[in-house]
Amino acid sequence: MDMATKQIRNIGVLTSGGDAPGMNAAVRAVVRGGLHYGYHVFGIRRGFHGLWRGDIDELNGQSVSEKLQRGGTFLMTARSKTFNSPEGVQKAIEMAKVFNLDLVIAIGGDGTFRGLRDLARQDFPVIGIPGTIDNDIACSDYTIGYDTAMNTAMEAIDKLRDTAMSHERCSVIEVMGRKAGYLALNVGIACGAEVVMIPEVETDFTRDVVKVLLQGRNSGKHHYIVVVAEGAGSATEVAARIEAITGIEARATILGHLQRGGSPTNRDRTMASMMGLQAIDCVRQGCYNRVIAYKAGELVDFDIEEALNMNKTITAVEIERARILAARRAP
Ligand code: F6P
Repeated sequence: MDMATKQIRNIGVLTSGGDAPGMNAAVRAVVRGGLHYGYHVFGIRRGFHGLWRGDIDELNGQSVSEKLQRGGTFLMTARSKTFNSPEGVQKAIEMAKVFNLDLVIAIGGDGTFRGLRDLARQDFPVIGIPGTIDNDIACSDYTIGYDTAMNTAMEAIDKLRDTAMSHERCSVIEVMGRKAGYLALNVGIACGAEVVMIPEVETDFTRDVVKVLLQGRNSGKHHYIVVVAEGAGSATEVAARIEAITGIEARATILGHLQRGGSPTNRDRTMASMMGLQAIDCVRQGCYNRVIAYKAGELVDFDIEEALNMNKTITAVEIERARILAARRAP
């Protein structure tokens, strides 16, 4: 059947990859929006793994009650290796037929979208919704979970500042982000970090770390915050280097998975809800194999192949701005 005219009655929804606060809100919107327009919606548990295994149940309006404010994903998630093979994709499509699924909506990151693309290439209609705390989906300025994770990291660093101040130490904090520095950069700006190290911009340790901290000390500072994106280095190593070179006592903290948990912020709840409804709008318009994106203040959608070929990065200007804000010159 021609993809554009394929009659969609049954929609499967799943969450895949690293969980992100707001994923529940997105699933809820897909379910409530889908039911509103007369579709049947099926929850697929544990991401693509669940599709492959037929871990699928029909959802109703009540299935998504009391989920909006919860962190994690009630559908659960997985990083499926089995699915990444032609046999895995075929088996997933066969299982989708067993459950009469006509289309799958998945919330996740790049890996999730590649899984969807593989289904789309076999003529199985899909729609992706960007959900990851890393904000590293190229086609979208925003990904579900990013705001909550930034606020969680910010609150943790504010607390670390109290103890760094009391002991006149340098607190080196490693934040998540995989290969991207969005979380680190924006948390660093919000916490007034002296130094932010991100993978997109090379750090000259002498110029960008040692010199900045010593200038701070000469200007009267007694404690320091250094934020390291996990893709740019290890907080433990950075702290040891700082202490060895400057003599400033340093402590490392790896925020780790606590950044992925917690009740989603207003921004994540509303963004996820609107993205979920936008996905249902795409289905209604017969617009398949799309990725929902937030671009220049608007919700839009892109062809999934096109979306996966896009790039985005942090510019030198953005990191320079963070450095200007952090610098305190001697009076
Ligand atoms: O993609 C989200 C993320 O939290 C990254 O920031 C991090 O590198 C990765 O997932 C950790 O993955 P896992 O939970 O599988 O260890």
